[in-house]
Amino acid sequence: MKITASAPGKVILFGEHAVVLGKPAIAVAVDRRVKVTIRKGKETGIINVKIPSLAVQGSINPDQGTIENDGHLKTGILHYIKGALQKTSIKRGMELEVSLDIPIGAGLGSSAAITVATLAAAARFNQQDITKEEIAETCHQVEVEVQGAASPLDTAISTYGGVIYLSKTKITPLQPARDLPLVVGYTPQPGNTGELVEGVGRKRNTYPDIINPILDSIENLTNEAREAIIQGDEKRIGELMNINQGLLDALGVNTWELSRLVYQARQAGALGSKLTGAGGGGSMIAYCPGRTREVLRELKNLENAFQVGISYKGVTYR
Ligand code: PMV
Repeated sequence: MKITASAPGKVILFGEHAVVLGKPAIAVAVDRRVKVTIRKGKETGIINVKIPSLAVQGSINPDQGTIENDGHLKTGILHYIKGALQKTSIKRGMELEVSLDIPIGAGLGSSAAITVATLAAAARFNQQDITKEEIAETCHQVEVEVQGAASPLDTAISTYGGVIYLSKTKITPLQPARDLPLVVGYTPQPGNTGELVEGVGRKRNTYPDIINPILDSIENLTNEAREAIIQGDEKRIGELMNINQGLLDALGVNTWELSRLVYQARQAGALGSKLTGAGGGGSMIAYCPGRTREVLRELKNLENAFQVGISYKGVTYR
């Protein structure tokens, strides 16, 4: 018996960081996925996990909550898998293999996609019915347990796919009038989401009269961007991304490496570009209708880069 589930990664188009402080955000599921395959394994309660692309091999005992082979740098992922397995009814007699089409620790939602695909695969393997709502909600709990804090954005977008506007906990799917041609550039240094979120909180406490209006501006531009996306107003989408980038810089989560990519993308013809996700390293996105090839080429001269499109396919069995 073999079950495979896959889930997409994501980029945040507007509103990261502000979303942690109750403001809205817009995210897009991208056509790069995580695949989790579960096969029948030994009836021991110990579940072997293989992630060949990262050379990770580990074993998880969900009943005891233990992970072995945890010394490896990239085994953070095993905590999300363990968390998802602990939420399923039967936690033995299986082995797991993960294949990744998303760089990890780059702010592209790999941990949420792994959690979502693991839970979906494990539920099906156990012949347990589970709705998308249950997957999104349970996986958000897992992220909170593993990370300490997380908005429901990543797990929701990975579960449902498409383009999502999140306000507080309300998730609204958006229908963009046009495709969103995006290029992702990612820097080798990973940003630490927890520390960066804390840093923004500290700044806000120190300078409330300065930072609160910035958060309000991000809220306003995210709401304006929602309309621009629905109407397919390319120029406005690009301009709002550039404004969002400036405000994220003011919040202290930008880096020189990201800035370099952001400006290079604009020079190569992107209508807008900004960091995406937590910042402090990680990734940036460039919105480049009609200029994808040029932007991709320029960014690849500096760092890793690839093109992404919207994935309307959320979590699925295959
Ligand atoms: O870099 P990521 O994908 O973990 O995104 C973090 C986005 C934040 O808004 C900074 C945090 C969150 O939980 O929404």
